[in-house]
Order: sequence, then structure tokens, then C-alpha cells
Amino acid sequence: MVVLEPMYWRLGFCTEKFFVLRLSVETGTPRRYAISGRGDKVLPKVRLLQIGDIHLVSNAGNKAFVDDKDTTFPLNLKNIISRSPIKTVFRRIFEIIKEQDIDAVLFMGDLTDYGKLDGYEACSKYIASALQLGSKGLYRDIPVGIVPGNHDINRTLALKPGISTKFTPLVEALTGAGLPPLPVNKAMHRSVEKGNARIELFLLNSCWGCGEESYIPPEFRSQIAAAIKTVMGGPDSDAAIKAYYDRQLDTPAFSEETIESVVTKMETLSGAAMPVLVAHHNLLPQRRPRLAPYTELVNGGALRGALGELGRPVIYLHGHIHEDPIEVLQLPGGFPVVSISAPDIPKGFNLIDVLFGENAVALACHVTPYRVDKSGILKRENTISIALNNGRKRSSDRNTGIIYGKILEVGQIYWAELTKHFLDEAHGLDEQRLTIIVEQLQAEGSIMIDNYDLSPTHWILRAEK
Ligand SMILES: [Fe+2]
Repeated sequence: MVVLEPMYWRLGFCTEKFFVLRLSVETGTPRRYAISGRGDKVLPKVRLLQIGDIHLVSNAGNKAFVDDKDTTFPLNLKNIISRSPIKTVFRRIFEIIKEQDIDAVLFMGDLTDYGKLDGYEACSKYIASALQLGSKGLYRDIPVGIVPGNHDINRTLALKPGISTKFTPLVEALTGAGLPPLPVNKAMHRSVEKGNARIELFLLNSCWGCGEESYIPPEFRSQIAAAIKTVMGGPDSDAAIKAYYDRQLDTPAFSEETIESVVTKMETLSGAAMPVLVAHHNLLPQRRPRLAPYTELVNGGALRGALGELGRPVIYLHGHIHEDPIEVLQLPGGFPVVSISAPDIPKGFNLIDVLFGENAVALACHVTPYRVDKSGILKRENTISIALNNGRKRSSDRNTGIIYGKILEVGQIYWAELTKHFLDEAHGLDEQRLTIIVEQLQAEGSIMIDNYDLSPTHWILRAEK
């Protein structure tokens, strides 16, 4: 594993302006391995990258330092995204893809701004080149999932005949860059497996009503549609288009077929299967009051209710709100529906581990936020653990009780110290068994593990009385 010659990519264009991304990365044989040989020493897990709204055009628009070694482009168009947060964040995502045994990379939509198709094309190329994903990339074997966002829908396209016409150029842009297509009519489903760990991934289109006149209530549809058209074609059309997308003057919705196909498919899956749904829009209303018409999914409640009654835990990943709440919804006697929002890309992204027990049943979901701080530094924050096993305690054997008691007694203990106490003949434990016990304790919410995304030698275990 060597090589490492710098390689430069030049990408894309967007609307009025050409822009160039020059990203230097080290390339060579794809490296995919677990840090410090975690491998089979820990409980099986599926590791996902959740990447929020990219909005490549606006987020790439910072004036910046130019490392000008290419004289073929006009001066004012070069490297406009150098030093922008998007570049920092993408570099880190690339490093994680290269080094951390990622099982799927998931994009929450809004690749572009205000329905600009050339921005969408540029973003598709950016993802494929900068992260080396898709059929043309070094990491072509890593599954990629992309869903449409409301900003990806062009209003003019939405007015053309055929309800799915507005998605066609988006799919063409993705496939042109070697990336997989979007879900349109139905959810797209695939299984992602690693050893005994297995998730069922569903990509959903929540943008049926975006830009769609027919979703405006019929009593005032023609008047509203005409008014939108007039203002957008008027003298201040840029401001009008911005207001239109920012204020969500459209109707986010799933198709009935989408909800039905997801629920039907889940009913056929084994009890241990762990569904992970991906859509652009939030399932629950955002926390901050939002004064805009049709701002939430009009049939989000239908999907939420169906998921809550499935009799199994579900993880729902989304973007759209540019914030990052993690919310757990649970009906009495039911299983949790865990909703995880990724922030927009200048703020960072999420690394998500779905952890499985030795019986292949999902135990917990660990979310590690990577966030840009106020100094512009991208930092890995503490992992947030969410139990998926309905609060059931699974730690029953003698050693588990003793180890938990020790952590509880001291409040905080380093991994090295814990192994000194318990890796002996008296306890009959080896490092693998000790790791599994500790992970199970974390999964049930009894303890917390700092630096969990690193190898056990970096772990700090904490428990509160
Ligand atoms: Fe967005």
C-alpha cells in the first residue's frame, strides 16, 4: 500500500459561473481496514456516513486563496471553494472512507440550490471525484445512496408533462458521474451486510410535491400558480426564486406507493433485520417554529405511524433543516423510531455505527458527529448512543455484572486499566470477550465509551451511580 502521488481533479460548472474545485488527495490502492485492527474483536457493526445538504453552489462561493498552477481558467473563476468549510469537510469524509471500513455513504439531498441543474451536475461530479465514489471511483465497492431534496427540483421542469419528469435530469446527472440513480416512484431497497450484521437500506423520495402545482389545494391552485409564475418572471426574479425555495412554497410528500412498498417489504424481512430509511425531509416538525406554507411533509405522519407499529426498531436519516437533532419516537409497547438529522455540509457530517449482538439482533445505534467549530476546525465529538433493543437489559452473566460494578465503582476507567483487572484466568476472559461485554453494556445504556470510534486501547469507560 504505497504509491501516493498527488492527483488533481477539476470539476464542474454551475449556472452563470464556472467554478473549479482543485482537490489534492493521496491516491493509490484503496485502503479499507478497521483502525488498529478492531476487526472481529468487537461486536459486529455496520458503519454508515450520513452527509447532509451540500448546496454546492452557495456553499462553494467563498472568495478564497488560490493556489494557481493552472492558467487555462479565467482568474475570477479559479478555486472559489478553496478554504471553504465544504473542502475541509469533504477532505475528512474522504479520509474516513479511505481508512475506516465504511459500509455505505448516504447523501440527504439538496445537492444544488434553487433547482439549478448545472449545479446538480457539478455536485454529482464533485462527489464522484473528491470522494472517489461510484462506478468510476477507487471506492466503487462502497454502496452510495442519494435522495432528492426540494432544492434539486426545478420548478420549470415540474410543470412539464409526466409526474416524474422533474427527476429525470437529476438521475441523468448522477449516472453521468458514475453514481447510482435516485429513488423516484418507489423506495429503493438494498441490503448491506458485514458478517452477522445486516441493515436493510431504503431510499425514499420525499419531494413529490416540490414545485408541483397539482399539490396546491384546488380551490386556489390556479391563482397561486399564476402569481408564482408572474413574480418569478418579474424584474426581481432572483429574489423571488430564493424566496420560493427558502419558504418552501411547495408540498413535500411521499407517494402512497413509497410508504406501502417500504412497509410491505419490511413485513417480509426477518425479525432481526434492521431497517434504515433515508429521505430528505424531517419526519417530525423542526424544533424552531417555521412560518411557511406546506413546510412539513404532508403525509409524514402516515409513514411515522406505520414505522412506529412495525414491531421492530427503525432508523430514519434525513437532512433539510440544516440542523442536527436526534429524536427518538416510541409508541407505548413499541420499538423506537430513531430520527437522525445531518447538518448542512459546512457544519459537518455524522458517522453512524449500527451495533449488533452476537445473535445478529440490532442492539444500539452510535452517532459520532464531526462538526466544524467556531474556529473553523473540524472536530470529532463524543459519540451519542441510542438503544434499539427496547430498553431490554441483556447483561446477565456473572462477569458482566462484575465488570459493570467495577466501572460504576470508579466512575471512569481507561481500557488498559480494565484489562489489568479482568484479563486473567480467574475471570476466564480474553480481550475479545471483554470487548463484547463492554459494548453490550454501552448498547443497553449502562455505560458510556469515549473515543468509541477508535480501537479499544483508546477507550475511556464511564458510568454514573
Ligand atoms: Fe437544504
